[in-house]
Amino acid sequence: MVNTVAINEKVHWIGVNDRETYLFENLWPLDKGVSYNSYLINDEKVAILDTVKNSKMDAYLEKIESIIGEKQVDYMIINHMEPDHSGAIKAVKAKYPDVKIVGNTKTFTFLENFYGKMDNYHVIKDGDLLDLGEHKLRFYLTPMVHWPETMMTYDETSKILFSADAFGGFGTLDGGVFDDEVNLEFYMDEIRRYYSNIVGKFGPMVQRALKKLTDLNLEFKVIAPTHGPVWRTNPNCIIENYDRWSKAETEEGVVIVYGSMYGNTQKMADFIARKLSEEGIKNIRIYDASKTHVSYIISDIWRFKGVILGSCAYNTKLFPSMETVISKIENSQLKDRYLGVFGTSSWSGGGVSNLDKFQERINWEKIGESVEAKSSPKTEQFDKCEQMAKEMAKKLISER
Ligand code: FEO
Repeated sequence: MVNTVAINEKVHWIGVNDRETYLFENLWPLDKGVSYNSYLINDEKVAILDTVKNSKMDAYLEKIESIIGEKQVDYMIINHMEPDHSGAIKAVKAKYPDVKIVGNTKTFTFLENFYGKMDNYHVIKDGDLLDLGEHKLRFYLTPMVHWPETMMTYDETSKILFSADAFGGFGTLDGGVFDDEVNLEFYMDEIRRYYSNIVGKFGPMVQRALKKLTDLNLEFKVIAPTHGPVWRTNPNCIIENYDRWSKAETEEGVVIVYGSMYGNTQKMADFIARKLSEEGIKNIRIYDASKTHVSYIISDIWRFKGVILGSCAYNTKLFPSMETVISKIENSQLKDRYLGVFGTSSWSGGGVSNLDKFQERINWEKIGESVEAKSSPKTEQFDKCEQMAKEMAKKLISER
């Protein structure tokens, strides 16, 4: 029995789960896996919306056939060309040679660069309509959410937005496919981790896309992204979260991240956290950058306003795992956080001084003085750490 899920009489989820891949984009841990969602509309004309990663194409083709039998696929709509969604295009084309491939001009540039020349292109412009019979599909270009060719498809008949990467997240769909069938608490962390690491850099483009959808005054009964749950009961929940994240809105809390070889920088991190707690801060997360993957750290930095970074010196430089953290922060262009800096030097400096340079480049508001201990923290450095914690707490509490 092939697993497909009806969204309504003619629209079906035909996605697949990936629990085998260790790293998404060969970068981001998939501890909880990921789903590649594709959709099929079985109308007078048959359309599929996006495909799946190439490792899943056999299971995917079976799903299509289980719904349409001997019928042909008339349209393959490509909202996004990244290979986690375009990986089965060639297989679909091989099985249904007359299929028309639907995309915008940029889509076809990517298509040919990845997979070579094909035929039967149906090139759409922003706002164009495709009539499948009962279902009328309208296309909206939403560049850079997440690639330049990205677009969304709106089913005017069922009021379903096929939103590509937008509104999606990590985590396989383990039985439940719809938002009302799953515990969203599990998914929201993974959706924020997905957003902050994959899409977050393009926050202004997400805002532009959200404004475009709002200005169009469309009604969304269902939001159907290419990863994670399908939103049919509370689509506003995911829209509101994307809105907040893309505006870099934060919650009260502090993320302390440190790189420590022998535990001395870690000791300062724990001390600062205790002082923050004594000042009434409840959301405090401490991460050892050498242990926790940077994607989880970034996800929490996206969430909370306060950030305190600590590093020991390593061969006159920042500790390598902290290099990774600051590089990812700078790459994501995250703005407007409060930043404290601490660490240790040994036979050389390089940890704290490079965190200070990072602060100057990123221009986050500095909280307290940078604290640097020689090899291990003493009373003087603990006092300064306490001062930093008090200033950070005061800043955050003043914004309640
Ligand atoms: Fe899920 Fe940008 O690919």
